[in-house]
Amino acid sequence: MQSEDKVAVLIVDDSATKRFSLKSVLDDVGYEVVEASSGKEALRQLLKREFACILMDVNMPEMDGFEAASMIRKRPRSEHVPILFVTAMHTSDEDRYKGYSLGAVDYLLSPVVPEVLRAKVAVFVDLMRMRREVEKQKELLELVNHALAEEVEARSRAEEEVRSYNQRLEVANKELESFSYSVSHDLRAPLRSMDGFARVLMDKYAAVLDEQGLDYLNRVRAASQRMGSLIEDLLKLSQLTRAELKLSPVDLSELAADIAQELKTASPEPAVEFKLTPGLMAQADRNLLRQVLENLLSNAWKFTGRVEHPLVEMGMEEIDGQRVFMVRDNGAGFDMAHAERLFAPFQRLHSAAEFPGTGIGLAIVQRVINRHGGRIWVRAVVDQGATFYFTLPNSSSLEG
Ligand SMILES: Nc1ncnc2c1ncn2[C@@H]1O[C@H](COP(=O)(O)OP(=O)(O)O)[C@@H](O)[C@H]1O
Ligand SMILES: [Mg+2]
Repeated sequence: MQSEDKVAVLIVDDSATKRFSLKSVLDDVGYEVVEASSGKEALRQLLKREFACILMDVNMPEMDGFEAASMIRKRPRSEHVPILFVTAMHTSDEDRYKGYSLGAVDYLLSPVVPEVLRAKVAVFVDLMRMRREVEKQKELLELVNHALAEEVEARSRAEEEVRSYNQRLEVANKELESFSYSVSHDLRAPLRSMDGFARVLMDKYAAVLDEQGLDYLNRVRAASQRMGSLIEDLLKLSQLTRAELKLSPVDLSELAADIAQELKTASPEPAVEFKLTPGLMAQADRNLLRQVLENLLSNAWKFTGRVEHPLVEMGMEEIDGQRVFMVRDNGAGFDMAHAERLFAPFQRLHSAAEFPGTGIGLAIVQRVINRHGGRIWVRAVVDQGATFYFTLPNSSSLEG
């Protein structure tokens, strides 16, 4: 590339002796010195490369210095190259003005004073180096600008994609919800009659059925009831995003105590200990928040079923300067590798034989929390329990 060439100075003089004496003054100063014995030769050299400046003899036989200068000026790439005329003492004023009018930047009287020559040439060499540096920086800047522009463009494309993806997702979700709403609605009626007729069979025809027949009927009923609760859960899930949020101050501690009491009454064994921090408040939809706590507490209750001293706690912690609700138990826990899956419908990490359930509870919990503008996550260790954390905007506790 041109800008990587060594900086050079051109000496134009028909006399080899004079070229030699100029060159020896300039030699060894960190730039190259190129010689030309005539104006024509100078033009040829200028085609090949750029020069920091030209030292031009005025009196040359074939084409004098002024003529050469005016031709150089007409060349597109050398129209601004500084020309220093080297001339004998006897140059007339008229000649000097002619030189200046041709774009000469200076006159050097021959024989030249070495220090003066070196100093003047050095100015133009430095100028050229600076210009090249500026050009390099400019190229760099352009590269950076270009990269930046591409980055900005890529980002706005990505944002646009996310937007349209979200829109499609929203539409799909709405469709899915209304679909599962009508499906679960329509499924309930035949299911109820299946369960109903199975019950009638059991009641009225128990005498004509043997033990195995009764067992089969029992299984039919158990399965249809299980399916019934699945459908109930699905219905709840699909209704979540339909209803409008009715926000009011909700006492989470009171709700939790209520739910704990219900759980205990429904099955006193095992005797689960509940430790609930009082006075936990949030601005929320009371009914939806009740579903959240019902699911989290009944999970905690369910998954501590096999430990010796089951303990379920609810409280508030400060994590990274943010106040976070937590529901903790010392039960079965699970492997964190699957933690993300839990919040999707029908995802269960434990077998139904061990711990019954439909796998919809946490999906409901997450939707409700998200609808409130909060976030939910979980930490668990196998056999050491699980802690569910969630945030709700405008929440507080008695402790402040
Ligand atoms: N407190 C908990 N301790 C251990 N595992 C839990 C806990 N809560 C939820 N899980 C895991 O997450 C799964 C999904 O929970 P959930 O959606 O409430 O469904 P379900 O309770 O019907 O199984 C559970 O099956 C279980 O594997
Ligand atoms: Mg559950």
